Amino acid sequence: MITDIFDKALELESGRLLLRPVIEDDADALFEIFSDQEVMQYYDILPLKNKDEARELCDRFIRHFADRTMLRWAITEKESGQVIGTCGFFCFSDEDSKAELGYELRRDRWGMGFMPEAIGLIMRFIYENSNINRIEAFVEVPNISSQKLLKKLGFSKEGTLRQFEKCRGELIDITIWGYIRNDGLY
Ligand SMILES: CC(C)(COP(=O)(O)OP(=O)(O)OC[C@H]1O[C@@H](n2cnc3c(N)ncnc32)[C@H](O)[C@@H]1OP(=O)(O)O)[C@@H](O)C(=O)NCCC(=O)NCCS
Repeated sequence: MITDIFDKALELESGRLLLRPVIEDDADALFEIFSDQEVMQYYDILPLKNKDEARELCDRFIRHFADRTMLRWAITEKESGQVIGTCGFFCFSDEDSKAELGYELRRDRWGMGFMPEAIGLIMRFIYENSNINRIEAFVEVPNISSQKLLKKLGFSKEGTLRQFEKCRGELIDITIWGYIRNDGLY
């Protein structure tokens, strides 16, 4: 099963980063990230308003880790020791052998290649430790940074889902991106 990955060693390391599952103590760092209007511009949830909401967010990540429906890593920058973002997988389907990818980074670390480095790690991890075939990501049309990131990581844009979901009060188009095992990078 894909969710066997929850039983593996989940601490991952690259040149500049350490990744490990989100813990309660991450609430303050996550508040700074998830309360930033620009980080949250293309999310279907509103920016966090206070630390209580950040604690609830952490609890949700921890709960979904326990019930094996979401694996969210906190991304720590080695040099500063600071948690600068999160990334991970959810919507696991053993029947279809797939999962969905999500991620976000502190604004003052954008454009430095941190997220490609972090997602490279978790892609290698999931392909080496499970029989997963497909990873998919759904991105709003104007979210160019996220689409450039996915392209860099070897994902293919598979199409645009027209008026796919209601976001901020209106139906919006969403691009769908996919990576399959045969793509062979991880
Ligand atoms: C998408 C995101 C994770 C990219 O992470 P990153 O580590 O900056 O990725 P990269 O360094 O590879 O940069 C990706 C693109 O971001 C854009 N970018 C770089 N610096 C930027 C900045 N200061 N401001 C805005 N965009 C910037 C560039 O288009 C860059 O592409 P390029 O390298 O081809 O020029 C980050 O922009 C982010 O957290 N965005 C908000 C959350 C979000 O949209 N999550 C995904 C929802 S689907």
